[in-house]
Amino acid sequence: MLRPPATFATARLVGRMPRADDGPAVFASYASDPEVTRYLAWKAYDRVEPLNVFLRECVANWEKGGGHFAWLLCLKGTDTPIGSIGLTLEGGGKAMFGYALAKKFWHHGFAAEALAFLVEWSLAQPGIFRAYAFCDVENPASARVMEKAGMVREGVLRRWHIAPTLGPEPRDCIVCAKVK
Ligand SMILES: CC(C)(COP(=O)(O)OP(=O)(O)OC[C@H]1O[C@@H](n2cnc3c(N)ncnc32)[C@H](O)[C@@H]1OP(=O)(O)O)[C@@H](O)C(=O)NCCC(=O)NCCS
Repeated sequence: MLRPPATFATARLVGRMPRADDGPAVFASYASDPEVTRYLAWKAYDRVEPLNVFLRECVANWEKGGGHFAWLLCLKGTDTPIGSIGLTLEGGGKAMFGYALAKKFWHHGFAAEALAFLVEWSLAQPGIFRAYAFCDVENPASARVMEKAGMVREGVLRRWHIAPTLGPEPRDCIVCAKVK
């Protein structure tokens, strides 16, 4: 089974494996903010305990190498999470990405910087042919992040993804990919 790097560095960021004790920092930074989670598959946390459980699952996923890998993003020289990026290795040579940043770090190009690095890493692996992500049709900043990371818009996946902050029904999503 393919194993991504446990840490990576870009010009301004370090991506690192989550730790079980990251809960309070992740909660304070972005996971409790409904503006951040507006288009995401999960609702903002109102307590840190369930977030601790989730982070322990992330650590366990790294340990078992089961195909889902999450990194916390920190500004270089710091250890405080400003966001996260995840990679799911799917069958058939596909790598899927998702990402979120604390609001005060939006608009600095950080998401595109982290995503571009992992897209390049994934497509450098012999068994991966498609790096892709999707975002809500009403989330143009995320669509732009995908394009800045080298992906090309392929179309709209109708009724694709539930964002529980916005309601129970699946919503239309833009899908972008880079292939080799
Ligand atoms: C979406 C998100 C990751 C963007 O991160 P970011 O680091 O601010 O993104 P970047 O600075 O790399 O790029 C954002 C781009 O979108 C553009 N943009 C921002 N708002 C926009 C809007 N309303 N319409 C069109 N473009 C927009 C910016 O101009 C920028 O493009 P540019 O560099 O060509 O000017 C961040 O807003 C976030 O974490 N949101 C909450 C979580 C989320 O929605 N994640 C994506 C789930 S698919």
